[in-house]
Amino acid sequence: MSLRPATAGDLDAIMVLERASFPTDAWSEAMMREELASPHGWYILDEEAGRLVGYAGLRAVSRATDADIQTIAIAEAARGRGRGRTLLRALLEEAARRGVREVFLEVRADNPGAQALYVSEGFLEVGRKPRYYQPDDVDAVVMKLDLRGWAPGAGQTGPAAGRTGAAWQGGACT
Ligand SMILES: CC(C)(COP(=O)(O)OP(=O)(O)OC[C@H]1O[C@@H](n2cnc3c(N)ncnc32)[C@H](O)[C@@H]1OP(=O)(O)O)[C@@H](O)C(=O)NCCC(=O)NCCS
Repeated sequence: MSLRPATAGDLDAIMVLERASFPTDAWSEAMMREELASPHGWYILDEEAGRLVGYAGLRAVSRATDADIQTIAIAEAARGRGRGRTLLRALLEEAARRGVREVFLEVRADNPGAQALYVSEGFLEVGRKPRYYQPDDVDAVVMKLDLRGWAPGAGQTGPAAGRTGAAWQGGACT
């Protein structure tokens, strides 16, 4: 796998993966363009043989002590091989470089696979946003990581962590 920062020229390829990864609540092209252009954003890509297989984005406003994981997606055929974790860790390392202390994210309540990834890096559930994801009417689980205590792999495996989550489906982070 090879990681590099995303540019505006990657928008089309990212949108193909975005729509495949989040079938009911993909971001619009305009939203993604804005994300890629934002001075507060940091997006990275995972490529294999020049083909996009994953992307992830962080929002960290200059001098703020908190940041957000905006999104993370790996192409279906490339999942389950550590790529999602590598992208997440790259975002957390960038947040730490920027002096961030707390990282937040939202994840669909019906996405135990993504939740397990976050829990295994030390994120804890700090709240719920009822019916946040529309049109599916699914709650958002709000999670937080104290980055000051974070080291890659230091988190615990939570109750939702098993790969037995038969009902698991993809979902947008935010
Ligand atoms: C969530 C996602 C990014 C994970 O990427 P991935 O490359 O498959 O994940 P990894 O192989 O790095 O797995 C890391 C951990 O995530 C958890 N995990 C990943 N897929 C899982 C699944 N299907 N069931 C249960 N746990 C899972 C496990 O804890 C795993 O650790 P382990 O391998 O030690 O068991 C990927 O499944 C995806 O793109 N899903 C669709 C989009 C999405 O839901 N994004 C998250 C939005 S908040």
